[in-house]
Formats: sequence, C-alpha cells, structure tokens
Amino acid sequence: MRILEPFRALVTATLFLGLASCAPQEESTAPLEVEGFYNTDLNMAELMTLVLEPAADILWSSGGWVMDAAGYEELYPTTDDGWAFVRAQAAIVVESGNSLALPGRAEDSDAWLIYSQGLSDAGVLAMEAATAQDKEAFFQAGAQLYSVCTACHQAYNPDILNRFDSNQAD
Ligand code: HEC
Repeated sequence: MRILEPFRALVTATLFLGLASCAPQEESTAPLEVEGFYNTDLNMAELMTLVLEPAADILWSSGGWVMDAAGYEELYPTTDDGWAFVRAQAAIVVESGNSLALPGRAEDSDAWLIYSQGLSDAGVLAMEAATAQDKEAFFQAGAQLYSVCTACHQAYNPDILNRFDSNQAD
C-alpha cells in the first residue's frame, strides 16, 4: 500500500489545483455549463426500444393478474429480490425521462418536457411502490406510466401510437 502514497498525494494535489482553478469568483446560481458533455448518439427510436421499452415492459408484466389454464395467476414479484429487480427497472424509467429532456433530444421546451417529467414521475411512483412492496400502488404506477407513453406518442407521433398499441395487444 505504501507505494501508492506518492500517487495519492499527487492525485490530491491535482484535484486541489483543479478545484482551485475552477472555483467560481463569486457565489453564482447559474446552471453548470454541461452542454456537449453528454452523449446523444442513440436516436429516439433506439432510446425507446433499447432503453425505455424493455424496462417499462418488465414493470407492466410484473403487475396485476392473468387468467391462464391454471386459473388466475398473480404477476407481482414474490421475493425481495424480485421487487428489487422491478425497482431497478423503474429507476431506468426515471432516468429515461431525463434522457428525453436533453438538448438534442427534446422536440420542444413545452409539452415534450412535461411528458418527459411525467415519465420520471411515474417511474418514481413505481420505485416507491416496489420499495414498499405495495401491489396496488405498483399497479397504479404502471397505469400512469402507460398513459404518459400514450399521451406523448399521440402528441408527437400518432403513427407510432398505432404500432405501439398493436404491440401491446399481442
Ligand atoms: C416525451 C415523449 C415520449 C414519451 C414519454 C415516450 N415516447 Fe416512445 N416515442 C416518442 C417518439 C417521438 C417516438 C418516435 C421515434 C422515431 O421513430 O423517431 C417514439 C417511439 C416509440 C417506439 C417505436 C420505436 C421505433 O421502433 O420506431 C416505442 C416502442 C416507444 N416509443 C415506446 C415507448 C414507451 C414504452 C414509453 C413509455 C414507457 C414511451 N415510448 C414514452 C416519444 C415518447
């Protein structure tokens, strides 16, 4: 471990210098200049199908009941690990709302941002319900999530809405 000490000192010094040179001259509440430091390579269709939809699908298939040959089957998680897993999917939904709101993704600074926030809000509700292992609240969060997806598609891409709904049916 001793061999790391000089390195640690160097890192500390560098960090200190770095922070000192970045330190604001006076108290400022201006937003950080972060533009250009995030990656928006995923286009909207990729963000939807690779990130958001898989997480949302797990939430929807983890709530409620289905009728099958064996009778009513409850879909909710039955173990702590199961709830932890759906909670992690809900977290992806929360952060997807932020991803949609990034400059370069947001289609306007009006309704688009409200739908993006609505997505995150529904994800937070699903996370809270999963933490509490509250089935009813989890189901409601899933319903709220679905209505946000549908509302945004209706507003920005009605054509997608048709495909999306037919996906849900099968
Ligand atoms: C803030 C608006 C917004 C929200 C919220 C939103 N979407 Fe989308 N979605 C879009 C837009 C715009 C497209 C069209 C993307 C394109 O093809 O250019 C789209 C397309 C899609 C597609 C089709 C992608 C393809 O293959 O072309 C799927 C699937 C999808 N969304 C799923 C979802 C799901 C599931 C949710 C909710 C959990 C959701 N979306 C929430 C805006 C949104």
